[in-house]
Amino acid sequence: MRRIFSGIQPTGNLHLGNYLGAIQNWVKLQDDFECIYCVVDLHAITVPQDPVELTKSTREVAASVLAAGINPETSILFNQSQVPQHAELAWIFNCVARLGWLNRMTQFKEKAGKNRENATVGLYAYPTLMAADILAYKATHVPVGDDQKQHLELTRDIAQAFNAMYGEEFFPLPEPQILGKATRVMSLRDGNAKMSKSDPSEYSRITMTDDADAIMTKIKKAKTDPEPLPSEADGLEGRPEARNLVSIYAALAECSVDDVLAEYGGQGFGVFKPALAEVAIAKLAPITDQMNVYMQDPQQIDAILKDGAERAHAIAQPIMGDIRRLTGFLGASLG
Ligand code: TRP
Repeated sequence: MRRIFSGIQPTGNLHLGNYLGAIQNWVKLQDDFECIYCVVDLHAITVPQDPVELTKSTREVAASVLAAGINPETSILFNQSQVPQHAELAWIFNCVARLGWLNRMTQFKEKAGKNRENATVGLYAYPTLMAADILAYKATHVPVGDDQKQHLELTRDIAQAFNAMYGEEFFPLPEPQILGKATRVMSLRDGNAKMSKSDPSEYSRITMTDDADAIMTKIKKAKTDPEPLPSEADGLEGRPEARNLVSIYAALAECSVDDVLAEYGGQGFGVFKPALAEVAIAKLAPITDQMNVYMQDPQQIDAILKDGAERAHAIAQPIMGDIRRLTGFLGASLG
């Protein structure tokens, strides 16, 4: 049996990188697998959050995921903090994982920056909570981008260590699951930097709330080089901006880079950019519209998340009961 689990941070203003890198893949996986998708608000507070903003971002991310095509009846969609087993299991994993393992995590080093002494303990323990997310459901497959592969490996190490400690093949060792080629979307201003919500330039990213005009302007202003597009993928070598735009096109149109170059090879960006903008608008406009419909009805979003949380809880609670018994904890949890 396969069970998919994945999480997304409740950061306001999702961008094209979030959509093409994660959400589009989540939508496809629903056809073939049991899917549990989680808005990770517990992870969000590993760095300072404004409470009002956090609530809003949680709804916003849920709205985007729903608008993109996650079906809340067949898949489970909820926010992490509503299911107490995540935090409960994370504590147990804090007592399985070793300092040495966490010290190797590159995301902590990046996020903590120079002032490591001031980082929260939660930021340091972020990966053990992520392991708990996945293993509280005994998920077998996890769609993750490159930047989360290390955390998934740690999850496997924790599962293995737990199994060895308690002498049972209790947890499956979850594997990465990517359908097709995962798209790493880069900044529109710099083909070597990841598209990111923290880039100071608005022109570096297309967000899920951009309207058609904004999308057109941003793509037209995107950094490129003076050469026409090559006819084959090899010709994109050493041209990070051109490569980025072509792979965005391919991901949006759900075709290959070679297909795109077969059509546009030899053309300049004066032709390619408007074509790309058209594809982006055609794909994103209905999602943005639907997202706005959801955002006008926050009670509906809350009801969907609550229903998802109840179904998630129904899976995690008995698994947590088994974990408690294996660990030797007396009595039942009230959570
Ligand atoms: N850490 C992931 C990210 O930043 C989000 C996440 C939290 C996640 N828990 C997860 C992803 C469990 C996959 C599985 O993108």
